[in-house]
Amino acid sequence: VTTLQPGQAPFQTEILTADGDGIEAAARLLRSGALVAFPTETVYGLGADATNDKAVAAIFAAKDRPRFNPLIIHVPDRAAAGALVRFDARAGKLADAFWPGALTLVLPRLDGCPVSLLASAGLDTLAVRVPGHPVALGLLAAAARPIAAPSANPSGAVSPTSAGHVVQSLGGRVAAVLDGGPCAVGLESTVVDLSSDQAALLRPGGIPAEDLEAVIGPLVQPDRDAGAPKSPGQLARHYAPRLPLRLEATEARPGEVLLGFGAAPAETRLNLSPEEDLAEAAANLFAMLRQLDEQDATAIAVMAIPDQGLGRAINDRLRRAVTPPGD
Ligand code: TXA
Ligand code: MG
Repeated sequence: VTTLQPGQAPFQTEILTADGDGIEAAARLLRSGALVAFPTETVYGLGADATNDKAVAAIFAAKDRPRFNPLIIHVPDRAAAGALVRFDARAGKLADAFWPGALTLVLPRLDGCPVSLLASAGLDTLAVRVPGHPVALGLLAAAARPIAAPSANPSGAVSPTSAGHVVQSLGGRVAAVLDGGPCAVGLESTVVDLSSDQAALLRPGGIPAEDLEAVIGPLVQPDRDAGAPKSPGQLARHYAPRLPLRLEATEARPGEVLLGFGAAPAETRLNLSPEEDLAEAAANLFAMLRQLDEQDATAIAVMAIPDQGLGRAINDRLRRAVTPPGD
């Protein structure tokens, strides 16, 4: 299957049978930084090595997502999740009851967590899940690293529940599709935020909220509870730097630190991509913003980023960082 991608050579999407050899081949591709679509019990995921900034940036490029939403990080078991995020008693109970399964837990990132900041859109929290599908678990064990995976469809399209769906919509944009047959659940995982004292349902999904409440007690449910934000999307916090941002800068004014792009003046502190490579800029975005945010400065000045391809998602995030949360 070959599809032309703007500005890029077309490449062949390999369809891998989900046997031992196919899983090994898929794991090798993931470890090399390539994108591989794989089956879970909910929907097919578009997987990338979560510790590789460029591989994670490639997910957003392949989906043509206009913004950087935080992604779910897939791990083979609770111990692997425990190496990334901090579990509390509630998280432990839910993991015991529902993993492997269609439940995603949002928990605080551990210091030194190796997952790309782009994968969690710069947040201090991380969404983790152990999928309930033997092929997914085999792949995660073989890849031996956390795998970031949103649903394997272009932005705005429905989630794929078969390898054929993935090939139809993302053929030529992923290195391989691991064909594990149709997905049993067909609905995305339920997302629960346990990063504060008040457990909250961020996204209804494959496991009913009542089943979760039977284990940890009441969840704040935006669709049900008066006064709570209406859309689950509103609950996902956005990373915002402490320092003000000034966009489309051409130089650093006194007191500012300059975040460059392309050919940049000498005072540039960090450069998102000297070669004007938008995937590289996306890969660097959150880590560089955080680094500059720690400087003793009055503002972060950011040079202009072209508003095309991944540049749209970068600009979307920069504009949100300028506008205070809640606007
Ligand atoms: O069933 C599924 O969950 C599928 C399969 C492939 O596992 N994956 C999936 O991933 O749907 P994705 O990336 O499309 O869904 C991410 C959801 C979004 O609603 C996002 O806002 C939320 O999880 N999310 C991820 N990280 C978060 C975080 N740190 N804080 C709050 N919400 C987060
Ligand atoms: Mg989706």
